[in-house]
Amino acid sequence: MRNYKTQNGIIEATVEVAKIRKTYNWMSKVYFLFAPMEKTARMRGIELAQIQSDDKVLEVAVGIGHSFLEIIKRVERKNTVYGVDLAPGMLKKTKKLVSKKGYSNFDLKESDARHLPFPDETFDVLYNSFMLDLIPIADFPVVLKEFQRVLRKDGRLVLVNLSKKDSTPVFLEKLYNLSPYFWGGCRPVLMESFVKQTGFRNVKREIPQTILPSEIVTGLK
Ligand SMILES: C[S@@+](CC[C@H](N)C(=O)[O-])C[C@H]1O[C@@H](n2cnc3c(N)ncnc32)[C@H](O)[C@@H]1O
Repeated sequence: MRNYKTQNGIIEATVEVAKIRKTYNWMSKVYFLFAPMEKTARMRGIELAQIQSDDKVLEVAVGIGHSFLEIIKRVERKNTVYGVDLAPGMLKKTKKLVSKKGYSNFDLKESDARHLPFPDETFDVLYNSFMLDLIPIADFPVVLKEFQRVLRKDGRLVLVNLSKKDSTPVFLEKLYNLSPYFWGGCRPVLMESFVKQTGFRNVKREIPQTILPSEIVTGLK
């Protein structure tokens, strides 16, 4: 039996960073099979980000680039869109996708969300989907502080994650505890209270109507 430790109704993540990088490098080749199940939640997250054509936008954990493409479509061509991911394989897929669609106004870097390679107060929007559900609970404040640091005053934060209605245990958590790779190392998280504790204001939680139990948490710096 693996780790049944819970905090704030969330089970602890048991997969280390090096393993996540390795797994997602490999998963970059097959992630297109999972992506459709996450689409509704991701697209609603993009909608809630209310991206304006002159916004400076960062996506953390771009994956194979489906949200990144939606972001880049929404900004003017002279405006650079920034993206990071832990896995070089994922960055390669994203670059290929947006380049194939004719875009060159992007800057993609390999980076861990815990240490973003950008100065303070750089972005109007920070979008991050299906990543915090891979991260240990103790690192939530570290990552959220980093997100807060790189956002400008009044900057918009949008987090989309695997989730559950409330803190009651769910079957997906049992599966995670049997094998954390059942759903790519992700387990349900509840981010609203962590986002509030970091000091974001106007924090809201929305549960999209999808097959995959998800939440969208938004806030303003
Ligand atoms: C489940 S996939 C989601 C991909 C994409 N955001 C989406 O919604 O389709 C998780 C992604 O997070 C990336 N990732 C995991 N931990 C990370 C970290 N600490 N910093 C940056 N990226 C990370 C993985 O490499 C992978 O691309």
